[in-house]
Amino acid sequence: MLTILITLGSTREYIDPVRFISNASSGRMGKALAEEALNQNCKVIAVKGPCEAEIKSGKNCEVINVISARDMLDAVKKNLKNADIFIGAAAVSDYRPAKKEKNKIKKQNIKNNETFELKLVKNPDIIKYVSNRRKKNQIVTGFALETKNLIKYAETKLKEKNLDMIVANKASAISSEKSEVFLITAQNRRFLKLSCKEKIAKEIIHESIRIFENNKTC
Ligand code: C5P
Repeated sequence: MLTILITLGSTREYIDPVRFISNASSGRMGKALAEEALNQNCKVIAVKGPCEAEIKSGKNCEVINVISARDMLDAVKKNLKNADIFIGAAAVSDYRPAKKEKNKIKKQNIKNNETFELKLVKNPDIIKYVSNRRKKNQIVTGFALETKNLIKYAETKLKEKNLDMIVANKASAISSEKSEVFLITAQNRRFLKLSCKEKIAKEIIHESIRIFENNKTC
């Protein structure tokens, strides 16, 4: 039985106890990937950041809820050795506040004509961590969401993050029920026309498993 480790949803990077930096990821694609993987008789480990999608834990499905990018990385590290395929579908916040304030930041402390500056530091790149330490035969599939130069940026990410496949989609996919994507590998580029995320997820799972099987026999 293949094990597929999936990250999904957003991450929250807290500024103070009540405010955070995040994004509008619905987690719909990640949920569809998990469901299709279960349909294909795979075991699923879903590392889920905050999002509206709900995934039920079950016999072959473990759901690990996390909040920040660093929590997500910790959960991935703990589960990576068991995974045959890793799919990074989470919209991880690229940055987090350099410091989380202990108490709520009071606006009275900032004068009307003053700017409020928030120092940010880079978050770890989870998928890069995974692909750089992958065990033999482990397959890594990532996503690229771009507002311009979609193919070019996705191909650069495929190389830079050392992925087996990248799913390139337009920014309009975020929070939407449908998506139009390119599945890009080092050898191939395949366009999947606008369809519901469940249909797209089916192709991504099938292709990831196909690459895994091919790799095994090489
Ligand atoms: O660099 P960018 O965010 O565009 O890359 C998108 C891909 O990288 C997605 O698969 C996403 O899940 C993954 N990623 C990650 N950790 C980050 C940033 C992105 O795993 N810190």
